[in-house]
Amino acid sequence: MTEQPIIQAARNQPVQTTPIWMMRQAGRFLPEYHETKEKAGGFLGLCKIPEYGVEVALQPIRRFDLDAAILFSDILIPAEAMGLELTFNPGPVFARPVRQEADVDALIVPDPLSAMPFVMEMLTTLRQTLPAEKAIIGFCGAPYTVASYMIEGRSSPNLEHTRTMLYSRPDLLHRLLEKVTATNLHYLQAQVRAGAEIISLFDSSAYSLPPVAYQEFALTYAHQMISALSETGVPIIYFAPGSMALLEQMATLGAQVIGVDWRIGLGKARKRLGAEQAVQGNLDPAALLGTPAAVKEHVRRILDENEGRPGHIFNLGHGVLPSTPPENVETMVAAVRGEI
Ligand code: CP3
Repeated sequence: MTEQPIIQAARNQPVQTTPIWMMRQAGRFLPEYHETKEKAGGFLGLCKIPEYGVEVALQPIRRFDLDAAILFSDILIPAEAMGLELTFNPGPVFARPVRQEADVDALIVPDPLSAMPFVMEMLTTLRQTLPAEKAIIGFCGAPYTVASYMIEGRSSPNLEHTRTMLYSRPDLLHRLLEKVTATNLHYLQAQVRAGAEIISLFDSSAYSLPPVAYQEFALTYAHQMISALSETGVPIIYFAPGSMALLEQMATLGAQVIGVDWRIGLGKARKRLGAEQAVQGNLDPAALLGTPAAVKEHVRRILDENEGRPGHIFNLGHGVLPSTPPENVETMVAAVRGEI
């Protein structure tokens, strides 16, 4: 079988048409997502009942013929498997955040297959259901990001508890990061065995760190995961939104693809990352709230900035916004494929 376009682009090989998928493509901007979420009894039901998770993962492929389906789950599902009680409303809430030595000690490193069988079941079904040319994306959170949610207990703009621990108990933060790294590594290895063909590693809290702390508390652990996964042969997309000041450091990770957000031009980001580094991005998600003409214009601008080089996966610069009109996504896909 010839490789899927996303995999070819991730390997910096030439492709006929720029491949495209969207972060949060299975989500609240689609009416059919809300219908299935209702049937599943809420967001966690979608994550844990394979029939429903597979359905919402397939919905954006049916509508927009995107080049890949992403596993339906959340980066915090493995944190729950480590022993933390988790709810979503709609953001994640941990009943008992991890703040003290005893909280870190109590966390387990679970066996992914027995703790999260529903994830592997979804991946296997997705691979059996989708045509071979569509890729299956597995994912997890990068260790610093998952640890930050465990420490804060919820989304938090300043990550004050996390950064307090970093500067007062760096040893404790390292112990937590080691447990999260081990958990997520086993988890991703299980995802690859179950059918994931490319992996997305989300480091959404990295923006909070200065370069030296980013190196010590985020990059080191993300690098460990990427190195250990290299034996699977599956390409990895590393994405740290809001952290484009750290691009040169990200280029040292050995990830096949670096995600680029919309706050920097794609051409400039590629220059800073180097010619060998494939990239993903970077349409402003808000561009999909404008007119079809604006969508087309901004897609064109990004393709122009790429100057026809190999190694570009088209995506938004972060997740699709819930108020996005689905017609604008159709326009974006057609513009990327040169059909309009
Ligand atoms: O379609 C997909 O992209 C696959 C599924 C997916 C979800 N979350 C489902 C989801 C993926 C890949 C994620 C990743 C994720 N989750 C990240 C990293 C990427 C990023 O956005 O920076 C983070 C930080 C989380 C944690 C999380 N989950 C937050 C902060 C929130 C609330 C904020 C928000 O966007 O609503 C969630 C909830 C969540 N995860 C929803 C979905 C579809 C919304 C749930 C709902 O329907 O109510």
